[in-house]
Formats: sequence, C-alpha cells, structure tokens
Amino acid sequence: MQKVIITGGTGYIGSHTVVEFQNAGFEVVVIDNLSNSVIEVLTGIESITGIRPIFYQIDVSETKDLETVFKDHKDAVAVIHFAAYKAVGESVKEPLKYYQNNIQGLVNVLSNMIKYDIPNLVFSSSCTVYGQPEKLPVTEDTPVVKAESPYGNTKKINEEIIVDTINSSENLNAISLRYFNPIGAHISANIGELPLGVPNNLLPYITQTAIGLRKELSVFGDDYNTPDGTAIRDYINVCDLAKAHVVAVKRLLNNALRYEVFNIGTGKGSSVMEIINAFESSTGQKLNYKIVDRRAGDIEQVWADTSKANKILCWKAEISLDETVKSAWEWEKKVQKS
Ligand code: UD1
Repeated sequence: MQKVIITGGTGYIGSHTVVEFQNAGFEVVVIDNLSNSVIEVLTGIESITGIRPIFYQIDVSETKDLETVFKDHKDAVAVIHFAAYKAVGESVKEPLKYYQNNIQGLVNVLSNMIKYDIPNLVFSSSCTVYGQPEKLPVTEDTPVVKAESPYGNTKKINEEIIVDTINSSENLNAISLRYFNPIGAHISANIGELPLGVPNNLLPYITQTAIGLRKELSVFGDDYNTPDGTAIRDYINVCDLAKAHVVAVKRLLNNALRYEVFNIGTGKGSSVMEIINAFESSTGQKLNYKIVDRRAGDIEQVWADTSKANKILCWKAEISLDETVKSAWEWEKKVQKS
C-alpha cells in the first residue's frame, strides 16, 4: 500500500482529502496541530472509510517535532501540504503570524522531504494569486499579481519557494493546485467545515444564518458590474476538490513534469444571489439577508478555466451546485445537533 503524509489533514479540505486517498487505496498519515480543527474529525473520517488514519498532533512550523514524523514515515511516496492559516482579515492584522506559520511550515516540509527522500509534493494554493484578472475565465497562464493580503502573499511566496527548491534538487517534484472557492461537505455529513467563531466565508455564514445562529446574512455589495450586481466566484464542491489531489499524486508518481500548476474549480461563476437562491431552493429554507456595502479587498468576479486539469489530470468537478449547498446544510444541521 502506498503511503502519503497529509499536513492539515483534520482541517476542512484536508479531512475530505484524507477520505479520498483512503478510498483510492493509500495509507494516510495525518499531521495537524488542531489549531483550527478538532480530534473528532478522525472519527468522522473513520465512519466514512472504516479506517482511522495515523495521526500526529504536531505543528509543521516546529522543526524538530516535524522531523520525527518524516523519519518514521520516510517510505511515503508523497506529501500533501495543507497546514496553514487562512483568514484573510486576520492576516492583515497579524502578518508575521502568517509569514511565520505558513512559510516556515512549507520550508520545514520541503527540508524533510529532501532529507528523507520523499519525492512528490502537492501544494494547496489559491486563485487569490491571480487577484482581479483582466480576462475571464482565468487560465494557469493568467499573470500572478501582487497579493492583496499577507495570506495571499504566503500562497504566492510558497509557490516560488517550491519552484526554487525543485530547481536546486534532483529528486523533488511538485504540483500546486490553485483552488477557487471550496464549499459543501461530504455526502454522509460526517465531516464538513467547522469555522471557529463568526464565519468569514459565504457558505458557512449562510448555513449558520438559516439554522438561527446568526440573525441575517450581509450581502457585500450589489453594485458590481455583474448581471445581478453581486460578486461572482467559482464555487467548487470540497469532495470534487479533494479528488483532484489524488489524481495529482498519481500524475507525480507517473514521472510527469517536475513542476506544474492547475486551476481547480468548476469553470462556472455564480453570484452571491445565485448561491442564496440555490440554497433556498435546494433546502426549502428561507434565508434572512440584507444588502450592505462592499467588503474591503473583495474582487468583483473570478472563475476558472479548468481545461488544463480536465485534459492532463483527467479530472473535472462533477457534483452540482444544488447538491453541494444541500450537503453544507445537512452538515450544519448535524453539527448543531451534536
Ligand atoms: C476568500 C479569500 C481567498 C481565500 C478564500 C478562502 C478574500 C479577498 N479572498 O475568498 O483568498 O482563498 O476566502 O476560503 O478574502 N460574502 C457575502 N457575505 C458574507 C461572506 C461573503 O456577501 O458574509 C460574499 C463575498 O463578498 C464574496 C463571496 O461572498 O463575493 C465569497 O466570499 P468568501 O466565501 O469570503 O470567499 P472569497 O472572498 O472569494
């Protein structure tokens, strides 16, 4: 059985990715410091796949601790690196926290991969590296621009660190996956997104409003240059996104190019109002919302050209928007009950 190490494996995208690797027959070692997730996620994973992954509660930015895991699992064929802070607003207030954790974490992962000869990395990047593109949809050749936030900058810098490291080493290969907006939960509702405190992202805010935890959703701006005036994003089901990591590792194992980048989205943009409508119609829940001013730092519209991933990885998003928002709702109901 081939083994992979997944950092941040109890987090939102990480946990869904653990499930997909286990379903694909890989043995999974999870590293997570539980700073933004809970240990019970492992039980959720086990209830879906029947396998509890090997788990280390370790912070990837702690050099010594991390090495013990790599030493124990130097037979791993790949590392999937998620562990990072991800709150845009917080990164503006505490940039050094983000640079220390997100960049030191990757440096430590790469150092250990070289030391223990683990040749393949899949890095969790973001469409944030494109900023507001001039031309839509965005391809992988769309220029990477100056980041809007320290969080975005850590994604950009980390992609550069990976390229430099590959260029200086003989035996390291990587794929960066640039995610658009992941939403939804596993169909079993045994794992999903668990935001700490007030959610920043749209879908958890919607489900928490519908369940009564929040009074109403604020729609940030209806005066954008879009058909209904609200901002447009490419919302991708988290399980579809998770599967992209499995095909990326398989490509690396087949001696693909040493470094590649892929957009991981649906190829279709949806406005905030379209998401609200999809939520209401697929769940039968009425949502309280009001239109407020634009949120500082938000871009107007972005969606992916996914033809590179469709063609080279033979991957495409399959789960519909309606099913996806419904899965987020089923998860929210389960979380509130427990
Ligand atoms: C944000 C980050 C992005 C990061 C992603 C992680 C910015 C500029 N971008 O993406 O870098 O990778 O989170 O998940 O912060 N909205 C509302 N009301 C709400 C919340 C959101 O109207 O209460 C709107 C936003 O204005 C936006 C859309 O919903 O138009 C999506 O917002 P969100 O889920 O926060 O994602 P992004 O801002 O696209």
